[in-house]
Amino acid sequence: MVSPQIYGVFLILLTATASALPENQNPPPKQINSNSVLVALLDSHYTELSELVEKALLLQKLEEAVSRHNITIFAPKNEALERDLDPEFKQFLLEPRNLKSLQKLLLFHMIPTRIESKNWPFHHTSLCDEKILLKENKNGEKIVGNAKVIKSDDIIRPDGIIHGIERLLVPKSVQQDFNARRSLRATSAVLPEGAPEVDPRTHRLKKPAPPVPVGSPPVLPVFDALAPGPSLAPAPAPGPGGPHHHFDGESQVKDFIQTLLHYGGYNEMADILVNLTSLASEMGRLVSEGYVLTVLAPNDEAMAKLTTDQLSEPGAPEQIMYYHLIPEYQTEESMYNSVRRFGKVKYDTLRLPHKVAAEEADGSVKFGQGEGSAYLFDPDIYTDGRISVQGIDGVLFPVEESSTVVPKSAPVSKIASKPRRGRLLEMACSMLGAVGQNSHFSSCH
Ligand SMILES: *[C@@H]1O[C@H](CO)[C@@H](O)[C@H](O)[C@H]1NC(C)=O
Ligand SMILES: *[C@@H]1O[C@H](CO)[C@@H](O)[C@H](O)[C@H]1NC(C)=O
Repeated sequence: MVSPQIYGVFLILLTATASALPENQNPPPKQINSNSVLVALLDSHYTELSELVEKALLLQKLEEAVSRHNITIFAPKNEALERDLDPEFKQFLLEPRNLKSLQKLLLFHMIPTRIESKNWPFHHTSLCDEKILLKENKNGEKIVGNAKVIKSDDIIRPDGIIHGIERLLVPKSVQQDFNARRSLRATSAVLPEGAPEVDPRTHRLKKPAPPVPVGSPPVLPVFDALAPGPSLAPAPAPGPGGPHHHFDGESQVKDFIQTLLHYGGYNEMADILVNLTSLASEMGRLVSEGYVLTVLAPNDEAMAKLTTDQLSEPGAPEQIMYYHLIPEYQTEESMYNSVRRFGKVKYDTLRLPHKVAAEEADGSVKFGQGEGSAYLFDPDIYTDGRISVQGIDGVLFPVEESSTVVPKSAPVSKIASKPRRGRLLEMACSMLGAVGQNSHFSSCH
């Protein structure tokens, strides 16, 4: 965040520039000085609130406000914006497309007049034009909306006042925005009547989907768009063109696999995607249909720790890989920011219903739990807006299984980079051969 000092200098510069201009020219000189309640807010212990005010790009509007009149700010304590806040709601507020909601919410905490504790109770319209009620409960405690005032007159300045409150105030309009967005998401997970029907056997649409505008998100949830697993049927070969072929997913997948190979240290992963499974073409098809994916790619050292046991079930390589595919577009920065803001974050994976947990650790992002965890090791190996590849230093397993999968012992020698057939592929082929299944995998011959 902008430090108050820098902000002060900025104001002085602004004022200096303004006063250097001829008298009647725009913009009018600012009336703010370092004694302003605005500067005091940025300098206060209400760091979460000031950070949000900055994120919401509200400083200029507030400067203009305090140059015209006093303001009263109800400042939620930091905890109210950290651990006390529903993570989903917080994420909603921080999404750039919801900037208007964030602005409304913050302006709801501000009143365009000076209200000291002695002026209680009071009815007023906040800066976001929604009414806010200032009252006293029967114990004589001051209340704003539904929040208790915990520090009346905490900060007093000539152009305004800050009162500390115990919780965030959410105006009705923002609650409605949030509900609307949430039910939109819910209806895309559980298709409402009248929406395209998914055949439970094939996971395909019963009727062709109605035409959608180019670039709009796909009609089906990604889980239904997935090819059936290997236990059901072999994945269908990608057709000559999907129902709406907006993106050339196949070449994007080729690109990222090339990038992985050039990057080095991720040959096993590339090999599994291309040669051991049909995942590469599956991913290509999904991307062509408009889905986005984040690949958590275990590096070769991590792959080398996989044991025969872990690969012995039919379809195990697919299941392992599905757990490393997140049906969202995330970059190193977006994931790091979320784990820093929310502590723990859970991402959906294509291995339903398992989610992968992420948290901040040692200035990086750590996935999974305990010994079965992996660090984000090579950030943003590939990012093209639809596919993101993040290198990690471990193979992840869903929690229930993690107790069985902690191959710790075997000393790991750095994988030699000479061209070779993946160890994993050889192992899997020999196992498949043993159960007479290797005809599925042309590359086993
Ligand atoms: C803010 O309130 C104080 C005290 O009531 C008053 O003296 C001052 O003029 C007000 N400032 C503005 C900009 O209205
Ligand atoms: C797939 O297998 C072929 C033949 O063994 C090999 O040349 C190729 O490099 C493999 N592809 C990847 C991405 O590893």
